[in-house]
Amino acid sequence: MLFPEGVSVDGRTGEVSPATDRYTKTLADLRGFFRDSAKLDEMVATQGEVPVYEVIGYRKAESDLSFGTTIMSPGKVGDEYFMTRGHFHVRRDRGEVYYTQSGEGLLLLESRDGDTRVVEMKPGICAFIPPDWAHRSINTGPEKLVFTWFCATDAGHEYGEIQERGMRKLVVDRGGEPFVAANPNFAER
Ligand code: F6R
Ligand code: ZN
Repeated sequence: MLFPEGVSVDGRTGEVSPATDRYTKTLADLRGFFRDSAKLDEMVATQGEVPVYEVIGYRKAESDLSFGTTIMSPGKVGDEYFMTRGHFHVRRDRGEVYYTQSGEGLLLLESRDGDTRVVEMKPGICAFIPPDWAHRSINTGPEKLVFTWFCATDAGHEYGEIQERGMRKLVVDRGGEPFVAANPNFAER
């Protein structure tokens, strides 16, 4: 049986306590996601294990709801800001909410039929992710980007499509400002 409890979420560090699971993605784990793969290889060769983001979860298999944090480091691969892999949910009827607590970034979303939207991520903004929109978060600032996500436990993650074909847009640094550009490597399937 499940019992209620208060879970501490630190909006600066993203620490969740108690947590049920956590993982880190490093630059090497993200090979294939950034446009400039030669730059990524060079960074991995010279800098070793660079953490790009950490995910800390509070999930109970018996509950319909889960939540947790994503803590994103600042940084770029070439002119492309550090970002998450991006995914659709396996359950197409499951949306999500991202509540940004510190830092700044952009949430890039793409519908199944190719519509693209960008939602600003900054403290106080709760981003609504409708069902069946792929979502990727991007840290465009100089500090950590920390957000809390709330999702159905059974939503599931489908990474393959975004990994294979990329997203239609990417977010690059243009003169010190984030710029949403068309992805030249986007492969329509
Ligand atoms: C869960 C969710 C987030 C992301 C996390 C990492 O549905 O959207 O918890 O999983 O921000 O991003 P991905 O999973 O795309 O590597
Ligand atoms: Zn999600």
